[in-house]
Amino acid sequence: MAQDTRTRGSAIIPIPRSVYLSWAVAVTLGCGRDHLAVSEQAELAALSASAQAGERGDDQSTQTPSRANADAVMQTARAMIDEGRNTFRYDTFGDEAFWGGALRIHEALKGEAFGGVGSGVSPETALKVGLKVDSAALPRSLVRQLRAGQVDLTAPATTLALLKLDAVVGVKGVFDGSGQNLTTVGIQCALCHSTVDDSFAPGIGNRLDGWPNRDLDVGAIIALSPDLSPVAKLLDVPEPRLRDVLASWGPGRFDAAVFLDGKAFRPDGKTAATLLPPAFGLAGVNLHTYTGWGGVSHWNAFVANLAMHGQGTFYDPRLDDASRFPIAARERFGHIRSDPDLITPKLAALQFYQLALVAPTPPASSYDAAAAQRGKAIFAGKAKCADCHVPPLYTEPGWNMHRPEEIGIGEFQAQRSPDEHYRTTPLNGLFTRAKGGFYHDGRFATLADVVAHYDRTFGLSLNGSERADLVEFLRSL
Ligand code: HEC
Ligand code: HEC
Repeated sequence: MAQDTRTRGSAIIPIPRSVYLSWAVAVTLGCGRDHLAVSEQAELAALSASAQAGERGDDQSTQTPSRANADAVMQTARAMIDEGRNTFRYDTFGDEAFWGGALRIHEALKGEAFGGVGSGVSPETALKVGLKVDSAALPRSLVRQLRAGQVDLTAPATTLALLKLDAVVGVKGVFDGSGQNLTTVGIQCALCHSTVDDSFAPGIGNRLDGWPNRDLDVGAIIALSPDLSPVAKLLDVPEPRLRDVLASWGPGRFDAAVFLDGKAFRPDGKTAATLLPPAFGLAGVNLHTYTGWGGVSHWNAFVANLAMHGQGTFYDPRLDDASRFPIAARERFGHIRSDPDLITPKLAALQFYQLALVAPTPPASSYDAAAAQRGKAIFAGKAKCADCHVPPLYTEPGWNMHRPEEIGIGEFQAQRSPDEHYRTTPLNGLFTRAKGGFYHDGRFATLADVVAHYDRTFGLSLNGSERADLVEFLRSL
């Protein structure tokens, strides 16, 4: 037993499982290699040597190496998770060149008093635009002072101190040698895809990685820039018009596509920005983003290069279609090459970490369990929701895409993507994104509105209590 048949070139070579496993470990290690402890590397070398010597995983004498081999996989997994978490929380991929260098946001943050421009941004203002503070990054002395009300939350100097502590979720402040002067800023994935549990105070608490920050007003943060001309030039609009666009986004939204197609508003005049989605619960899901641009890693590379403006490599020739993506085609966004490439080496562990972010479950007290149980039967039965939202993924295993008319909405956002479809949204952890509404643009304010929409569109003839039970079920996911 334990023979695995792999095709190599044209020959079919039977490979003993122990060899195959060592090979798989070595391949999986790829990007994480730098981070392996010396002892782990030695262990791996010993394992692959014993595998080459022809030992088999199925005989008594090799039970130990075989188990050690499995442990090596676990060690790899742990190293990948650590590295990926670090990237997700703290990496800027060199995007300071854009946020600080081009947009000069750091100058607005520190204000004139510290060599910048304007009055600076106090923690009070920062919290108001939805920025979050990681309480675990605060030294005990500061926590004590905060509790005692001895910290001035109206002073930009306090914001600078928080940045220096790496305590502002998703924002990296870079200080010069004196440690006093903020010289540039960058942003991290956590800015939009993390929040905090408010355990210390509203906006201050422990990080919740993967939760969408539906308080975050990204447009207002970009608009802090004293000089938006680089973005205005890219979009080919006057700066005041760009400021109107940024103000139209509102909390919890960002428009990744406007930098490709220049379409800032929907045909009905409302903002074309989409809601920030969670970055948890994505394992097992085939296509990602509301319109299914690609897999997790495609989008990670897209965002790091094109939205955050990090320095990396990105290839997507679909963006060469000038009739649909005029800006992207002109700027050759589908053909980004940077030297050094600060993104590509981090993609493997970043994806690994994201896939390990399980969707949180809502507190049992937050919904009526008996009603949810009844709603579950309606979801799979009369309401036909499970035709698309297949449990436990709550999206289709396979090609999880639908034409706009299949779900009874307009084509505007679908048309802004290569596939012109909408992706079936995975529904786990819905309670974390009740703010801002549902569907890609938040068109339905409540889950009851979503259910009423399906009831009309599909002619389900659900009665009032069936609709209510269905809502309770959604609230329990
Ligand atoms: C400025 C805010 C912002 C930042 C920073 C950001 N994202 Fe996103 N992210 C979004 C928005 C908005 C979408 C939805 C885009 C869409 O569907 O059109 C999204 C979508 C995603 C998705 C798809 C989720 C799904 O449901 O399929 C993933 C995965 C993701 N982002 C990962 C990342 C990673 C990794 C980073 C850092 C490299 C990052 N994002 C940085 C705003 C952001
Ligand atoms: C034909 C496939 C299909 C069926 C059937 C379907 N959905 Fe959906 N669902 C989708 C798609 C696609 C989206 C994404 C729409 C968007 O973002 O604009 C979605 C989005 C949602 C959302 C919003 C999630 C979010 O985070 O914004 C909820 C809630 C939802 N569906 C619940 C249901 C319920 C309840 C039913 C049954 C009454 C149902 N769906 C039936 C395809 C389907």
